[in-house]
Amino acid sequence: MSPACGATYDVGEVRVACERCGGLLDVEYDWNRLQPPDNLRYFEQWWGQRRIPMRHSGVWRFHELLPYAGPESLVTVGEGQTLLQQSDGAAAYVGLKPGRLHLQYEGMNPSGSFKDNGMSAAFTHARLSGASRAACASTGNTSASLAMYSAVTRLMKAVIFIGSGKISYGKLSQALEYGALTVQIEGDFDDAMARVQEVSRDLGIYLVNSVNPFRLEGQKTIMFRVLESLNWEPPDWIVVPGGNLGNSSAFGKAFAELFKLGLISRVPRLAVINACGADTLYELYSRRGLRWNSGQIDKQLIADYYRELDERQKKASTIASAIEINRPVNLQKCVRALEICDGVVRKVSDQDILDAKAQVGAGGFGCEPASAASVAGARLLVREGVIDPDERVVCVLTGHQLKDPTATVAYHTTDQEHFQKILGSRGIQHAAFANHAVAVPNDLRQIIQALEQHS
Ligand code: F0G
Repeated sequence: MSPACGATYDVGEVRVACERCGGLLDVEYDWNRLQPPDNLRYFEQWWGQRRIPMRHSGVWRFHELLPYAGPESLVTVGEGQTLLQQSDGAAAYVGLKPGRLHLQYEGMNPSGSFKDNGMSAAFTHARLSGASRAACASTGNTSASLAMYSAVTRLMKAVIFIGSGKISYGKLSQALEYGALTVQIEGDFDDAMARVQEVSRDLGIYLVNSVNPFRLEGQKTIMFRVLESLNWEPPDWIVVPGGNLGNSSAFGKAFAELFKLGLISRVPRLAVINACGADTLYELYSRRGLRWNSGQIDKQLIADYYRELDERQKKASTIASAIEINRPVNLQKCVRALEICDGVVRKVSDQDILDAKAQVGAGGFGCEPASAASVAGARLLVREGVIDPDERVVCVLTGHQLKDPTATVAYHTTDQEHFQKILGSRGIQHAAFANHAVAVPNDLRQIIQALEQHS
């Protein structure tokens, strides 16, 4: 269904935009007919059935809350076995009291990012529609996930579009090794996104970017798992990095549905964090006042801003390459989510992102740069007094630390030339939390001396 004009389409149709108004579509359920559970504890019965793949899946064990396909059509590769971890080290950095910060590690998914939640849902819909090829444009994680689902399930062949020189080696290596047809476009993610939509439409290829409403159904389950880990009690804040804005849109929809169904009594607040070098949401929402306005969003405001970007030839640029996006396709749905969740938007610098990332890593499980935008954003909001140190905050860590070793190694390096080349060029001047390697000659006495000096 189109949230803007109310037009409806059959669930079996392959469609990413409304024919009537051109806007994105939502998956809508007739809850009266479907009879969803009346308590979230209902889902605990599946904990003892992990030998059944669909109940092992962190997505499909919530099938009753995304019931657009029958059990026989569901696709899983074992996604969603992720972890919500209390992190007092990162809490101290952010300015929260002990016990108040939780990190949701979505990098623990099979392809190393949250994308697998949505990909299992998109593959399920694609299977219903009988598609044989699937495509996406990507800053790296969607393509890694698509390539993986394609290789594991053999249901569809994967075609991926990436901007040239724009994706980290960890992610590119996944797409190549899993056998996806990889098309490198001269241009950036925004260019690749525009082209893949045209190509998919012209060639009838199934599009798995988050314009696909079924992707977002899968991503709702990230919030279901957060609630599950918190004994079904909503936190005060969810903080998430904003790129193409699929996650934030999905989270808003998840909470709106749970609230409507009486499954939660309170909706958490949402903070979406842009990188300073890719700050379209921040600019439009926080500075120019773009609002959902019951679906009558001010499209002229958006068009004017995009024209300005073109006139200034401004391209997205951030060390957090996953969110290096200036034309987020889910912008309007995200603005709706911000309304549902009384949300705020902030932007953080590359310096703050890498410092926050080092603090997350120091706690034991790492994350990639884009993910750390959430922690840097939470810190900013605590400093501003928007988040109280006593509130319970969940930062979503969207991707695994090993996705982008280049940024991590450059941050911790002792080689100033290397630091400057990778990070200095992006305005990053220091690495306050660097853990430098210690260089020693190959000599037992000197090695022991070095150990004693540094312990
Ligand atoms: N974090 C990571 C690690 C990502 O890969 C992405 C998006 C985001 C955050 C932003 O999430 O789009 O839901 O706001 N990566 C996409 C990709 C664009 O192609 O892999 P979003």
